[in-house]
Amino acid sequence: SLVPIILAGGKGERFWPLSRKQRPKQFLCLDGSGRSLLQTTADRLLKTAGGWDNLWVVTASHLADGVREQLPELPEANILVEPEGRDTAPAVAWSTVEVAKRYGKDVVTGFFPADHWIAEQDIFEATLMAAVEAAVEHSAIVTLGIAPTHAATGYGYIEQGEKIGLFGQAYPAFKVDRFTEKPDKDTAETFVSSGRFSWNGGMFVFLASVMLAELHQHAPEIIQLLEEKGIDAYSTLPKLSIDYAVMEKTDRACVLPVQFSWDDLGDWGAIERLMKSADHPNVEFGQHVCLDTSGAIVYTSDEDELIVTIGLDDTVVVRDGKVTLIVKKDRTQEIKAVLKTIQERS
Ligand code: GDD
Ligand code: MG
Repeated sequence: SLVPIILAGGKGERFWPLSRKQRPKQFLCLDGSGRSLLQTTADRLLKTAGGWDNLWVVTASHLADGVREQLPELPEANILVEPEGRDTAPAVAWSTVEVAKRYGKDVVTGFFPADHWIAEQDIFEATLMAAVEAAVEHSAIVTLGIAPTHAATGYGYIEQGEKIGLFGQAYPAFKVDRFTEKPDKDTAETFVSSGRFSWNGGMFVFLASVMLAELHQHAPEIIQLLEEKGIDAYSTLPKLSIDYAVMEKTDRACVLPVQFSWDDLGDWGAIERLMKSADHPNVEFGQHVCLDTSGAIVYTSDEDELIVTIGLDDTVVVRDGKVTLIVKKDRTQEIKAVLKTIQERS
C-alpha cells in the first residue's frame, strides 16, 4: 500500500488573473469537469490510498482553508500546514517526518503535485502499484517518467540507465543515470534528441526511511533543523525544490516510464490542448460572441458577463473581478514577469 501526499502549496502564476494568491492554480477547475485540479488529484489517489484516512495534503497557511473547503472529507490531522511556502524540499522533508511518525519508517509514501491532468485511471493505479514494488525491492526513490514531446525548459530531465527489472503488471523500471532540473534550451534539445531522457513527472514513490536517509546525506541543513525543532524551524529553512535538493544528487533514484496520458497544465496553451475540438475554433469558459475569431481562449468567471471579439486570432482574454488580461497566446509565459511589477494588486 501507499500513503500519498499531495503537494498543494504552489502558485501557478501563469494562470493569473484566474489564479490569485488565495486561489492558486490547484484550486481552479481548468478541464471543464467541475472539479478543481486539487480535487481531481485527490480523486485519482483515493483508491490507492485506501480511503481518505491515508491521504495527506501539505500546503501553505494562506491556502489551508481553501484545502479544507475543497476536500471536506480529508481528516484535519492529514492536512499539514506550512507557516509559509519554502518550496518543495522543506515540504517533502516535513511531511515525510510526519508520515513516518504515524505509520513508522517502513511506510511507502509518495508525493503528487496538485496541478496535473492525467487520463486512464486504471493505468495510473497499476503504475503506482509497480512503483511501490520497485521502491521497496530496490530501496529506491521511484520517479514517474514522461516521454518528452519537445525541448521544454520547465521540467526535470531524467537520463535512463540500466534496467532494474519488471514491476507490477510488467512495467520496466530503470536506474537514473542523471537528473537535471530545468535545463537551458540547448541542453534540453540535446537531451530530447538523444532519445535517452524522460521528463520528471514530479511524482515520487519511496520508503520513508530511504527519503529521510537521502535528506540527511544531501540536505542536512533542512532535515536536521526539522527533526530538532519541528515546525518552528520552518521560516529559517532554505527555499529549495526537492529536485535540486535530493533528486539531482541521490544515487537511489529509479525511473518508471508511464503509459498514461499526462499534461502538467502549465499555461493557457495546455488548456487548449485539453479542451479544443474540431467544431469549436475557440476555447470558451463563459459567454463569448465572436466574429472572425479563431484560436482564442476566452474566460469570464461571471456568468452575467459577455465577451465579444472581432477579428482576433490566437489571443487569450481572461476577465476576473476587476482585472482583465489580454495576451497573445504564444506569450503567456511572460505573465509571471508582469506580475512581479504589479504584485500589490494581484
Ligand atoms: N506544500 C507546498 N509548499 N507545495 C508546494 C510548494 C511549497 O512551498 N511549492 C510548490 N508546491 C507544489 C505545487 O503546488 C505543485 O503541486 C508541486 O509542488 C510542484 O511544484 P511546482 O512549482 O509546480 O514545480 P515545477 O512544475 O516548477 O517543477 C516540478 O514539476 C515538474 C513536472 O510538472 C519538478 O519536479 C520538475 O522536475 C517536474 O518536471
Ligand atoms: Mg508545476
